[in-house]
Amino acid sequence: MTVTGISILTVNVSIHSSPELTIVVPTYNERDNIGELVSRLDLTLAGIHWEVIFVDDDSGDKTADRVREIGSSDSRVRCIQRIGRRGLSSAVIEGMMATNSTFIAVMDADLQHDESLLPKMLSVLRTDDVDLVIGSRLVAGGDNKSLQGLRHWSSEFSSKLARWILKIEVRDLMSGYFMLRSEVVAESVRKLSGVGFKILLDVLASSPRDLKYVELPYRFRSRHSGDSKLDSNAAVALAMTLIDKKLGWLLPPRVSAFLFVGGSGVIVHFAALTVLLKLSGLSFVLSQTIATLVAMTSNYIINNLFTYRDVRLRGWNWLTGWVSFTLACGFGAVANVGVASTLFREDFSWGISAFAGILVGTSWNYGVTRLYTWRVR
Ligand code: GDD
Ligand code: MN
Repeated sequence: MTVTGISILTVNVSIHSSPELTIVVPTYNERDNIGELVSRLDLTLAGIHWEVIFVDDDSGDKTADRVREIGSSDSRVRCIQRIGRRGLSSAVIEGMMATNSTFIAVMDADLQHDESLLPKMLSVLRTDDVDLVIGSRLVAGGDNKSLQGLRHWSSEFSSKLARWILKIEVRDLMSGYFMLRSEVVAESVRKLSGVGFKILLDVLASSPRDLKYVELPYRFRSRHSGDSKLDSNAAVALAMTLIDKKLGWLLPPRVSAFLFVGGSGVIVHFAALTVLLKLSGLSFVLSQTIATLVAMTSNYIINNLFTYRDVRLRGWNWLTGWVSFTLACGFGAVANVGVASTLFREDFSWGISAFAGILVGTSWNYGVTRLYTWRVR
């Protein structure tokens, strides 16, 4: 347009409302799956206003660069690149908090989750009084065949255990594929553990109200490209999540785990003592001493594998760790007996004296081994 000889350029920036659906995809070394996933989303979500947010933990294969490359010509494709962080659950939470859409889906990048289920999930949320739709391998019509052997068995076992502990009826509680209303996230985000990789379980267990959900069957496919990131750590991470969800209001998960292990030590102690007394004919004092050492060692091994798995000691450090653990717990035992006998002399009942001794000894053991054996501050 020309006004008195001056041409006026108008810049045409169109303003769009936020998408109806955001798909949050956590990624760690998934470079070769990004393009395929985006084109499948594009096909299956035709007619829907959507976006996808990849939350990448600074993958060595430059997954984030690949996402930005696609995003440069397709504004529906966004990237959150986290530096110095790891973790599937926390990545998903950050992705969910970076959206402004009505519905949020979570899916893996490796195409194991059948994307053609997304429109069905969305239509259930649009029309029904439901908070959450779960892609399920374990309801009629679903399929989990591409998980094999031990992995299949352990997935089913942990599902059953978690359902029982948390009293949640969802069949595929371990699913990493679901869609929910964004309010559900807003309501529970401050209560989420965010540890490990069981984000669905975390959402269900953290919600302040009972969520209305539907499970839709799908066939779990095998991985498109790359390798699974979840190993035996996953089972331990799940156990810690469960402990946190059950006892987190009372004690930090490491303290609960440490107490459980201490309890197992009592059983180990009595078993060892019985064997030594009955079979070897050693004196009581010697048998008791050896049984104490056996129980301490077993506590050390189990705590190293579970309670402190994230900072697990190996090799030479394992040995020096064992020495510091045994020394610390030795002092703990002395403190325990000291406190208990002092109180007992002051005319407290034997029960109260013993309990106070155990409390002091256990707190000492926890505090000192946390700082000096596993060096957690
Ligand atoms: N950002 C980020 N950080 N992403 C991660 C991380 C991490 O530390 N670890 C894994 N991911 C991403 C992967 O790149 C993938 O897109 C998705 O999370 C799932 O990881 P996989 O390594 O493919 O897991 P899986 O196939 O063994 O397990 C899947 O199935 C399980 C059911 O058996 C996941 O969906 C689990 O959540 C699910 O329980
Ligand atoms: Mn996978």
